Amino acid sequence: MDYEHQPVMLREVLEILAPKPARRYLDGTVGGGGHAREILRQSCPDGELLGLDCDDQAIGAAGQALAGFGERVTLHRTGFTRAREVLDEAGWPGVDGMLLDLGLSSHQLDTPERGFGFRSDARLDMRMDRCGSVDAHELVNSLPVRELEKIIRDFGEEPRARRIAWAIDARRRQGAIDSTWQLAETVARAMAGSTRRPRKARRPAAHPATRTFQAVRIAVNRELENLESFLESAYELLCAKGRLVIISFHSLEDRLVKRAFHKWGLDCVCPPRLPACVCGWARKATALTRKPQVPGIDEIRANPRARSARLRAVERL
Ligand SMILES: C[S@@+](CC[C@H](N)C(=O)[O-])C[C@H]1O[C@@H](n2cnc3c(N)ncnc32)[C@H](O)[C@@H]1O
Repeated sequence: MDYEHQPVMLREVLEILAPKPARRYLDGTVGGGGHAREILRQSCPDGELLGLDCDDQAIGAAGQALAGFGERVTLHRTGFTRAREVLDEAGWPGVDGMLLDLGLSSHQLDTPERGFGFRSDARLDMRMDRCGSVDAHELVNSLPVRELEKIIRDFGEEPRARRIAWAIDARRRQGAIDSTWQLAETVARAMAGSTRRPRKARRPAAHPATRTFQAVRIAVNRELENLESFLESAYELLCAKGRLVIISFHSLEDRLVKRAFHKWGLDCVCPPRLPACVCGWARKATALTRKPQVPGIDEIRANPRARSARLRAVERL
């Protein structure tokens, strides 16, 4: 299988994780193994890596790409919310470095049958985990219109969510919306009839269905719930001085990461009106990035898909 994906912000990730021999690493979104390969190279001869991905095709590709590292690498087809269980099974109390590179791989985006994009026509699917029970077809065709509107507004940050949701509802009453083009066309028609003036764009206008596709994809894969659940206690997966790097690709994810890292840096999380601390919370980690790092212009030129990447990192106390 050809698996195309260029690892994003690789230099920055390696600078922060600074992989070393005899250390342990967890790549929670191993994809085609681009970041993992460099972590393993730099931690030669005996650094170890656990790689997780919920996509069977990614795990297959990473298996091929990382085969040369032998027993130093172990891959699991599972979600990063199961990281604690995977570490326990491996007998690792914690790791020295951990990476989440969120979002889609180019392979997922460019494989028409995965149904993520609308450059080709394909059945609506959008599941990263192909064993997942709910796909985009089911969600788009069966969700109550109000819930659809909420998803498009909240996850797509789409100001015309109501109009789009009602257009989808009207269209699906005539017969199921089966394909990516049918959905894209329904959204584009709804937008064409909108009287709301589009915001002044700094970039060339995206396809009118871009935000709706993002919203449906986030809902199908429960992307924000998974990230939030991981962030509740991810610091516990790190050894002392262990580092976590997270690359996100839209503001909703970045906001969750920013909030969690901020909380981990606090000495107390009691409401300010309380006269004394009762929370029992103690500082967990120190932020290594006060503002998110972004890719350099050369990387964006070479790989335009990197342009919305935002990298944040922390170090466990
Ligand atoms: C941007 S790609 C990672 C690419 C990888 N860093 C590389 O260099 O090849 C994101 C990957 O995260 C995976 N993914 C997304 N959500 C996940 C989750 N909750 N658990 C595990 N993997 C997830 C996707 O299936 C995809 O393969």
